[in-house]
Amino acid sequence: MSKTVLITGGSSGIGYSMSRYFAKAAYHLLWVSLLEEEIEAAKQKLRREFTNCNVDALVQDLSKPEAAQNVYNWVVENNWNIDTVINNAGIGTYGFVPETNLEKELTMINLNVRNVYNMTRFFLEDMVIKNVGTIINISSISSFQPSPKLSTYGATKAFVNHFSRSVNEELKMKGSKVKVICVCPAAIRDTNFKTSGNMENVKTFDGMVTTTSEEVAKDIWKGYMKRKDFIVSGRKMRWLYRISGFIPYRIQQILVRKEVKEVA
Ligand SMILES: NC(=O)c1ccc[n+]([C@@H]2O[C@H](COP(=O)([O-])OP(=O)(O)OC[C@H]3O[C@@H](n4cnc5c(N)ncnc54)[C@H](OP(=O)(O)O)[C@@H]3O)[C@@H](O)[C@H]2O)c1
Repeated sequence: MSKTVLITGGSSGIGYSMSRYFAKAAYHLLWVSLLEEEIEAAKQKLRREFTNCNVDALVQDLSKPEAAQNVYNWVVENNWNIDTVINNAGIGTYGFVPETNLEKELTMINLNVRNVYNMTRFFLEDMVIKNVGTIINISSISSFQPSPKLSTYGATKAFVNHFSRSVNEELKMKGSKVKVICVCPAAIRDTNFKTSGNMENVKTFDGMVTTTSEEVAKDIWKGYMKRKDFIVSGRKMRWLYRISGFIPYRIQQILVRKEVKEVA
């Protein structure tokens, strides 16, 4: 029987790149995204590459309070047995906090924090009872240190980072076989994220550790296969992460301020 993976935001960016790895491994794919047209186009594209791939999708605004319940009900009503949930859908905002769009910031908090919490909670309960399953939560390298002009975004990803890793430790304490993997990708140059967050000219998307959605998907797949707890994605970023403990905070902040600047 084929395995099933649920990927939020599976129809574009990192979510789509990861879908290719799961399709190649003959998983049944469940996508939950916002834009119906994009989902349909992505399904067709994936089926051109993997002729027999099985994809079902739900159009759902995951920033809404009832979203995780709707996703869970959809899975239960269809009798799908979920092996892996990837909480990938997320957006970013950019700018000095008092100058950012309040509505967008709150939508981001609901999507990046509340929905990731709810989705983890709903699906984890069943996984713990069955003593099998994996949840992969997509955080970011901006969760590692204060990130000016990405203050709220970085804080949402710090939640994802701490929550995922702490719950994973709880599972170990209980002797559970269930795992929560936290993934921290470096800035990615080839997804919609920077455009939707008005960050096209921000240096970090063409900076010293910038990566691609394909490299991130490959790192996640390798980490998933090796049952890793924590994945820093992007080869250059992994190297920087290893030495970052030796770099004084003041120097780190000088480097971060350069990365978050807009360039002409
Ligand atoms: N790009 C980066 O530099 C970077 C770096 C580190 C971490 N990340 C994280 O990686 C994840 C994926 O980002 P990406 O770079 O692949 O960006 P992306 O191409 O913009 O993908 C975001 C996905 O989330 C979905 N989404 C957005 N708002 C939604 C909503 N309200 N309800 C349902 N789905 C929604 C989008 O669906 P639609 O297309 O249908 O709207 C899209 O599939 C995010 O959590 C992001 O924070 C990104």
